[in-house]
Amino acid sequence: MHTPSATSAISTAAAAASGARSAVPCAFPHFVSAGDILTDLVRTDGSHWRSHPGGAGWNVARAVAALGVPTAFAGSIGIDCFSDELWRASEAAALDLRFLQRVERAPLLAIVHETHPPAYFFIGEASADLAFDPESLPQGWMGAARWAHFGGVSLARAPLSATLATLAADLRAHGVRISFDPNYRNLMAHGYRPMLETMAALADLIKVSDEDLRCLFGTDEDTALETLRAMNREATVLVTRGAGPATLITPTETIAAMPPRVEVVDTVGAGDASIGGLLFSLMQRPERAWRDHLAFALASGGAACRHAGAHSPTLDEVVALLQ
Ligand SMILES: Nc1ncnc2c1ncn2[C@@H]1O[C@H](COP(=O)(O)OP(=O)(O)O)[C@@H](O)[C@H]1O
Ligand SMILES: [Mg+2]
Repeated sequence: MHTPSATSAISTAAAAASGARSAVPCAFPHFVSAGDILTDLVRTDGSHWRSHPGGAGWNVARAVAALGVPTAFAGSIGIDCFSDELWRASEAAALDLRFLQRVERAPLLAIVHETHPPAYFFIGEASADLAFDPESLPQGWMGAARWAHFGGVSLARAPLSATLATLAADLRAHGVRISFDPNYRNLMAHGYRPMLETMAALADLIKVSDEDLRCLFGTDEDTALETLRAMNREATVLVTRGAGPATLITPTETIAAMPPRVEVVDTVGAGDASIGGLLFSLMQRPERAWRDHLAFALASGGAACRHAGAHSPTLDEVVALLQ
């Protein structure tokens, strides 16, 4: 079963036009993540596979929602069994489903056939994610958004990549702050540089891991970071290094801090939880010092590592690691 978003968008508009009371929440989200939503098919052994709803952008949306900010993931999924699972998981994560579009196209799959080290490829030619249409989002939503997040393979998949870059520029023009996590994948090995430059220039906040830096630029980490910073000197940059020290470079100061020590179940989605935590802290606790924002981001990333899969930590879980 699925609930086509077009239907709910039409009924919401009709209810609003007639002045009727509607069960659908009318307030728009303060945070919108637009980008990767997909199903990871991970080989368990031999010919056995397990599916996981995922996508970096979708994980960031769930991370911010779990911390308590009204959030949407903006994107498009199919009408198949994998997409139904993404819809249900989005609903369970309290994401605003008016932003999740459904089209009759094949789902995007990430086939993870080795996990140590990861080896993967994508199946998604003319798939549902590519059909995302910002024009069909509810009217007036940009006025409520404070931050929007972009990144991942969606920025390396035409024509979606251009759609998202245009949306990011529109949002910025409307005064919405832009967050960007390139989240390196092999799709970015060739031809990604112009998009990287475009998004870096639009961004107020950029998150990269040490591995992202080395892979994106093909140089050592310091040279890569300098190349990235040269694309936008105004942007705040968060560099994470797994269990190692993270760095936050703001226009006024550079701070380093260690993530909390945790018992790691797996590190899937750790980076998504860390940028989600930083965005939450910036939105909900703007009075805090940069050092506190960084500590919150690292605690959020650490909390995600204590559970299997891309766990979205609650505020209590993050606060417990801050103490
Ligand atoms: N082994 C770990 N122990 C504790 N925290 C971790 C660990 N791995 C990741 N994290 C947390 O998640 C954040 C992001 O992890 P990282 O691996 O650098 O990013 P990504 O998932 O994008 O590759 C880290 O800064 C840290 O807060
Ligand atoms: Mg990452």
